[in-house]
Amino acid sequence: PLSASINKNDCLEIGGCDLKTLVEQFGSPLYILDEFTLRTACSQYREAFNTYYPGISQVIYASKAWSCLAVVSIVASEQLGFDVVSAGELHTTVTALEKMGYSPEKIANQIYFHGNNKSVEELQLAIAIKCTIIVDNWLELETLVKLGNLNPNNPIPILLRLTPGIECHTHEYIRTGHLDSKFGFDPHQIEAVFTYVSQQKALNCRGLHAHIGSQIFERQPHQDLADVLVKWIKKGQTYGLNLEELNIGGGLGIRYTQSDDPPSIEEWVKAVSQAVTKACLAENIPLPKLIAEPGRSLIGSACVTAYTIGSRKEIPEIRTYLAVDGGMSDNPRPITYQSLYRTIIANRMSTPLTETVTVAGKHCESGDILIKDAQLPQTQPGDILVVMGTGAYNYSMASNYNRLPRPAAVLVQDGEANLIVQRETINDLIRQDRLPDRLLA
Ligand code: LLP
Repeated sequence: PLSASINKNDCLEIGGCDLKTLVEQFGSPLYILDEFTLRTACSQYREAFNTYYPGISQVIYASKAWSCLAVVSIVASEQLGFDVVSAGELHTTVTALEKMGYSPEKIANQIYFHGNNKSVEELQLAIAIKCTIIVDNWLELETLVKLGNLNPNNPIPILLRLTPGIECHTHEYIRTGHLDSKFGFDPHQIEAVFTYVSQQKALNCRGLHAHIGSQIFERQPHQDLADVLVKWIKKGQTYGLNLEELNIGGGLGIRYTQSDDPPSIEEWVKAVSQAVTKACLAENIPLPKLIAEPGRSLIGSACVTAYTIGSRKEIPEIRTYLAVDGGMSDNPRPITYQSLYRTIIANRMSTPLTETVTVAGKHCESGDILIKDAQLPQTQPGDILVVMGTGAYNYSMASNYNRLPRPAAVLVQDGEANLIVQRETINDLIRQDRLPDRLLA
């Protein structure tokens, strides 16, 4: 659903901007974020919850997918909240919301702070901002009680993160709901946690959270999760806990290749909403505020990465490598999770696809392959190769491996392109370096 078209120069346009021209103007590799697609996904989540969930709901953007001031401000203007997992994401989000004129109270209500090993400084920052803290473990609970007791009139709003013991079919690195996971309280600890939390005046425990994994195509795991969380909410009542919020996590997958077939946002929200509603009826408890925290399905399809094609190596009867000017530093997902992507040549949109080539990055590492066996037209050095669906976990996981500067990002809409992340320079790369005098002596 990109706002894409092909212009009279046979070149791909996104958001009304010609990709070859964008690369001439901003250089490559270049992240190109289509504002329309991002806003559409935000409104699909918002409207689906309004349609299918009779209670109160909130969609919070998992900003780990891509956190920067412009993305935060677009997502906020679509009335979504934020899941942050570090002081850095928190600072980015708060800064953007302040610039938008949000009051401190409104900022506090929009942000949920995650993490399995938050530092004391991070917790202090979150308390000062008054956002909700999603507590992962005992050490964190005890630290919060100590910090909260310093200011007993302002109990700290928290949710408890639980490990639901639900398996889903996705890459093992991005599975989180199974029992052998580093995240959240284990089911056998729940009674002890409920007992402890119900005795703490410093804490205001508002609900429960669980997240089962990412890039999930099935609906059943989240429906099962709804049952588990509702049962635990009910159990909380017997400990005197009034758990009014149910955060079901994120995880809806997107279509990276033709064979990927995820449910639509609407179908997913409908399934989750109905499962929660049904479970609450069965347990005879009031509908909680339902929170979902999607990342990938909000921003993944909204961005492409444009590269310039360079060298080529033909190994007869084995493989042809086509190298581009980025790679695992701007998109670490293929080398990390064997992720698949689609690619096209932006400036040869109607040339027949006559070649099978492997698109390689420029890093000094054999595994730095972006796409194996891509079907492409005949290309020339200087052509623009575009990798689709790079909005989630690309910029946010980018590195400076081999001292490559991180790419720029532009936001496109109605023929206008605005820089939202400036390209790093080679001087940026040595900015934090220090050279002790004695090394020069
Ligand atoms: N909530 C929690 C607590 C999470 O840990 C995550 C993702 C999300 C929400 C958002 O999940 P999403 O809707 O984006 O699937 N780097 C990996 C993905 C890691 C996901 C980590 N947690 C990748 O590139 O595939």
